[in-house]
Amino acid sequence: MMLLSIENIEDTLRSKFCKQVVDKGINDAAKFLQRWLYLSSQVTRLHGAALARISIPDIQYLLAEIAYGECGSGNKDKIHSKLLTNLINKSPFSCFINQGLDRYFIQLFEETVLELSQMSQDEAIGFIVGLEAPAYQILQLLRQALVDVDISEIDVIMSDYFVIHDAVEKEHQESGHQAMEIIMDSGFDLSKIRKGGDQAINFLIKMVGDA
Ligand SMILES: [Fe+2]
Repeated sequence: MMLLSIENIEDTLRSKFCKQVVDKGINDAAKFLQRWLYLSSQVTRLHGAALARISIPDIQYLLAEIAYGECGSGNKDKIHSKLLTNLINKSPFSCFINQGLDRYFIQLFEETVLELSQMSQDEAIGFIVGLEAPAYQILQLLRQALVDVDISEIDVIMSDYFVIHDAVEKEHQESGHQAMEIIMDSGFDLSKIRKGGDQAINFLIKMVGDA
């Protein structure tokens, strides 16, 4: 039996996402971007709902830091969903991508915020771990989808959105899972972290899995 550690929880969650989303590939890049843009514009509500469940100040700090980064780290012109919108607007299909999303996805998101706000602390932190686990794979999918809606590869790579996220990704790898160490040191129940993480991956799969 494999010992439960935070790293193998992350790996398991990541490979589930890969099997259900990455390996299948994206059929409709515009649909994928429409849903991801919506999620991007709402994602800090998930951080906020999780934060509301956390009583440990070091973990509150971690969640607030993630949310602050998404909100532009003090520069409201750099709000990540705004940067993504700027990039998407270079596509001839931007009208379709920016248009309102199917009710199903809006409801799914609202239900998820509610569920998260009622989770135990350990599950809530697990949900955020799960949300972050496939970050690199999602960036790759996004890059491909943006090229597929006829944005030049140079425009994608040189965009503020990708410059910022590539830097964040490197930082993540270099910091050697500092966040995970804090989580480990806080004595969380790993099976509950795993449970919360599964809920996040299931949410992501429902959100973008069949795009
Ligand atoms: Fe972001």
